[in-house]
Amino acid sequence: MPNYIHGYISEEQERLLSQAGTLASLIYPWIDFSQSKNLLEIGSGVGAQSKLLLELYPELELTCVEIEASQIEKAKTNLASFFDRKITFVQQDAQQLSLDKTFDSAFICWVLEHLSQPLKVLKGAFSHLNPGGVIYLTEVFNSSFHFFPEFQGLADYYEAFNEYQRQNGGHPDVGLQLGNLLHQAGFIEIKLHHGGFHLDQSQPQPLALMCDYWKSLMKSAAEGMKEIGLISDLDLNQMEKDLDQLKTERNAVFFYQFVQAKAVRKQ
Ligand SMILES: C[S@@+](CC[C@H](N)C(=O)[O-])C[C@H]1O[C@@H](n2cnc3c(N)ncnc32)[C@H](O)[C@@H]1O
Repeated sequence: MPNYIHGYISEEQERLLSQAGTLASLIYPWIDFSQSKNLLEIGSGVGAQSKLLLELYPELELTCVEIEASQIEKAKTNLASFFDRKITFVQQDAQQLSLDKTFDSAFICWVLEHLSQPLKVLKGAFSHLNPGGVIYLTEVFNSSFHFFPEFQGLADYYEAFNEYQRQNGGHPDVGLQLGNLLHQAGFIEIKLHHGGFHLDQSQPQPLALMCDYWKSLMKSAAEGMKEIGLISDLDLNQMEKDLDQLKTERNAVFFYQFVQAKAVRKQ
């Protein structure tokens, strides 16, 4: 999969695990698979969300669809402790989903942003859900990122990061479109929810943790961005310095919103 902006080196595979842990308390309270037996996870990566789903729902059977073989290999290792659970891995492009069974639920997290045809993925999910089946999405809304005070290096790097994703066919604000996309794919009972963080010096520890998490997220695309001249090593260093500085600023603010959606396949 040549156009995936984060790449597949082992540092990135570890980042996905740590990301899922950092954001779990924000993502999972709005999601409910307690009525599900049979879940389809699309873009399952190294199994970081799969692990949380299996822990939260001990009865769940899980089918993981992922395009990249090395992610599936890592996911198998990461999920090895669930040896007594029914987990199926399928290496497939989610934009051409074709599975030999249907599901009562589906889950997609931080995937549609990377795809040139997110609607195709949702149409594929729709056709693989049983009537009455439920889907939950969690996706980025990168234009919502605001920080204070102004740091030009961080602002420029962030713009380049989003531009890099667009150049690779992705959608850094796909979260805003989730309702439209679900509607166009045929889903009903569409509900949207905004999650995220609004951190400042009243919560210095979460602020510092988020700045560190953001550094690793931004850095994950650095090699590809450098290759095509979108950033230099200096820009990378400045972005890291700015985020370190942000942690210590008296009036620091870090604000970001992602979007979640729930929808149902008509009976
Ligand atoms: C940012 S990761 C998120 C992984 C997982 N959902 C999580 O939150 O940890 C996106 C994953 O989507 C996969 N992916 C990208 N394009 C895909 C496609 N067309 N079909 C299936 N998976 C795809 C990537 O290989 C990557 O593992």
